[in-house]
Amino acid sequence: MHAVQSAWSIKELQRACVRRLPRPVLDFFEGGAEDEETLCANRRAFEQVRLVPRAFVDVSNIRIGANLIGAAATMPVAIAPMGAIAYGWPDGDIALAKAAAAAGVPYTLSTMASVSIERMAREVGGRLWFQAHLLQPRERTLQLVERARRAGYEALMITADLPRGGKRERDLHNALTIPFRMRVRHLPQFAARPGWCLQMLRHGTPRLPEALQASAVSQAGSSIGAGFDPSFDWDALRTLREAWPGKLIVKGILCGEDAQTAIGIGVDAIVVSNHGGRQLDGCIATMDALPEIAQVASGRVTVFLDGGVRRGRDVLKALCRGADAVLLGRDVLYGVCASGQAGAAKSLQIIRDELVGAMQLSGKSDISALCMFPRDPSLLWRDASASDF
Ligand SMILES: Cc1cc2nc3c(=O)[nH]c(=O)nc-3n(C[C@H](O)[C@H](O)[C@H](O)COP(=O)(O)O)c2cc1C
Repeated sequence: MHAVQSAWSIKELQRACVRRLPRPVLDFFEGGAEDEETLCANRRAFEQVRLVPRAFVDVSNIRIGANLIGAAATMPVAIAPMGAIAYGWPDGDIALAKAAAAAGVPYTLSTMASVSIERMAREVGGRLWFQAHLLQPRERTLQLVERARRAGYEALMITADLPRGGKRERDLHNALTIPFRMRVRHLPQFAARPGWCLQMLRHGTPRLPEALQASAVSQAGSSIGAGFDPSFDWDALRTLREAWPGKLIVKGILCGEDAQTAIGIGVDAIVVSNHGGRQLDGCIATMDALPEIAQVASGRVTVFLDGGVRRGRDVLKALCRGADAVLLGRDVLYGVCASGQAGAAKSLQIIRDELVGAMQLSGKSDISALCMFPRDPSLLWRDASASDF
């Protein structure tokens, strides 16, 4: 707990998780698909972008508030949907959502969460979005969407990059299943983390994710997806758009042409995402895909980016490159797994403080001025020898 409260960076929260979580759980959270090329590429793409600070700008008053799909957020950030968080911290979904509400940023409940759509809406205030996986038969997705509508969720987020599960080899080696089934080979790894074991014993095994309840099938953590609908296409999205009266967000878009089609269908927002490197390995890093999509969106819909954001300065870089906001994934996951709601709050505070600091140091005082379309190209350094972006 002390290590969490005294943490200065997301990296320190990550280290606290490494010390607390059994290897198979940590691997499920941290891992990517196959060789983890895309997982690494997401970070590398951030490292390759350089800010160009401006001198003698009055930065005594920094404004980071943002309008995200029609309502205010205290910063240009929302929480990404993440399944199975409760294996990191009991009721971790609720803890994270409460931290998000307290920080004034939207929270997205995953279909794979261990908390029901209704309980989340009952127990947590703030802005709630619901992420729907595309399940078979299609009626199952529509039932979840209808429950989210009745429970008053503000936005529906459709994940586009999961017609099947990615090949996550860490999970395959660990024989990880959701819900978790203990095997003899797990015993030494779990015995090495007695604190986590005691906490789980006290609170009981997390509830089955929404998506798996009907099938009651135990799925390999690496290949969750046997129940997914690979036939879902743009026409199906059109039908869903007609059925859902609230804001619609499509997550997992990586090229301009798909962004154009989604906008044509009437989505309110796009998330430039590769699922944190957990689906198609070898696919484009999100920061590399962003400029083309921002160009296509031209300010007509909100453009989010996720994947590899680990610092407040990364938020600033994403905004300078064309995003309107980012989704935070593993950043807040590390916080919540290290210390529940307090840890998630710490993650959000670190990102906020670093964002304010990066803005002051780079001579930018107002997020909304920064996010005008088209972006001011002088915000970022362009290496003449590198390919154009
Ligand atoms: C443990 C874990 C579970 C996830 N579960 C979901 C999910 O249920 N639905 C979804 O659309 N994305 C899911 N994602 C992807 C995140 O929403 C997000 O795209 C990704 O974490 C961003 O990358 P980052 O963690 O490197 O920031 C998950 C990611 C992680 C790490």
